[in-house]
Amino acid sequence: MAAILFNVDMKRAPVFAEALARELPDIRLVTDKTAVDPADVRYVLTWLAPDDLTRYPNLEVVFSTGAGVDQIDLSRVPAHLKLVRMVDDSIGRMMQEYATLAVLALHRDLPDYLAFKAKGQWKPLPVRAAAERRIGVLGLGALGQAVIERLVPFGFPISGWSRTPKTIPHVTCFHGDAQFNAFLAQSDLLICMLPLTPETTAILNAATFAGLPRGASLVHMGRGGHLDQAALLEALDSGQLSAAFMDVTIPEPLPADHPIWRHPKIILTPHIASITPSDRVARAVIDNIKRHQAGHDMIGLIDRSRGY
Ligand code: NAP
Ligand code: GLV
Repeated sequence: MAAILFNVDMKRAPVFAEALARELPDIRLVTDKTAVDPADVRYVLTWLAPDDLTRYPNLEVVFSTGAGVDQIDLSRVPAHLKLVRMVDDSIGRMMQEYATLAVLALHRDLPDYLAFKAKGQWKPLPVRAAAERRIGVLGLGALGQAVIERLVPFGFPISGWSRTPKTIPHVTCFHGDAQFNAFLAQSDLLICMLPLTPETTAILNAATFAGLPRGASLVHMGRGGHLDQAALLEALDSGQLSAAFMDVTIPEPLPADHPIWRHPKIILTPHIASITPSDRVARAVIDNIKRHQAGHDMIGLIDRSRGY
């Protein structure tokens, strides 16, 4: 009997098993790889790729529980296998919440007010209108566009940067390396919503920060590998950046003595911008298995040549 190997937090297994039994009774859920004939395994659901994917001769698809797949070493996923990321409305909604939280916190000077409060200071700062705070979004994919949709009603002027050209209502769109500096120069608040690929690794670096208007701020909800953490600390300490709100680091968690933990201009959360609920993971994977069995394209199929 065909099987899906469940290489995920076991607390999530019962919801998945129940949905699978109801909708795809010909596929069984396996949580212990030693308890299955490797020839039965057709699908793997995982955050990190298991080292030994070659032991499953009939494996067809590796499903990532993440919206990104950079945590999976593609060199360990044989070329004939399809790799599929998690695409679900719930992820977009959570990213919208997180981006709204972070953007408004930075726009309304929350890091300063937290520091003032700690010192017992009642100290109003000038309030800037949303129309005067230009937001730049790195990455105009499913999640970048979801975030923009939620931020537009506040009245922030919004621009975005992607690899290929885009036309999006209410957004000034830039694309490609040639337009990167022009995009940065008009971004008072930069949001990173990119996938991590060789091209985007360490894209949040000293040169990028220098290209932003002085006093700009950063919301980082992509991947730790996008950010040169030392460059962020230098930019904050020099005043080139005013504050950062970040959800991802390298490593996760940071070592206890890392300066980011205690930096007064950084708000840090533990990679919680979005956590896909178990029932939504099950829904997305089951729908994709049905598509795959019917010979249709799966949603979230990774293009290996692009890396996302
Ligand atoms: P997506 O739909 O694949 O969109 C990716 C966007 O990035 C696209 O607009 C793409 O441009 C752009 N891009 C990729 N490489 C680029 C490059 N070299 N130069 C310029 N633009 C580039 O991905 P998504 O669903 O929006 O997710 C984005 C990322 O969010 C994920 O990969 C993950 O890292 C992160 N994420 C984080 C969390 C969290 O909890 N912190 C949760 C979920 C996701 P094109 O449109 O031209 O292809
Ligand atoms: C979380 O970071 C995800 O990629 O879903």
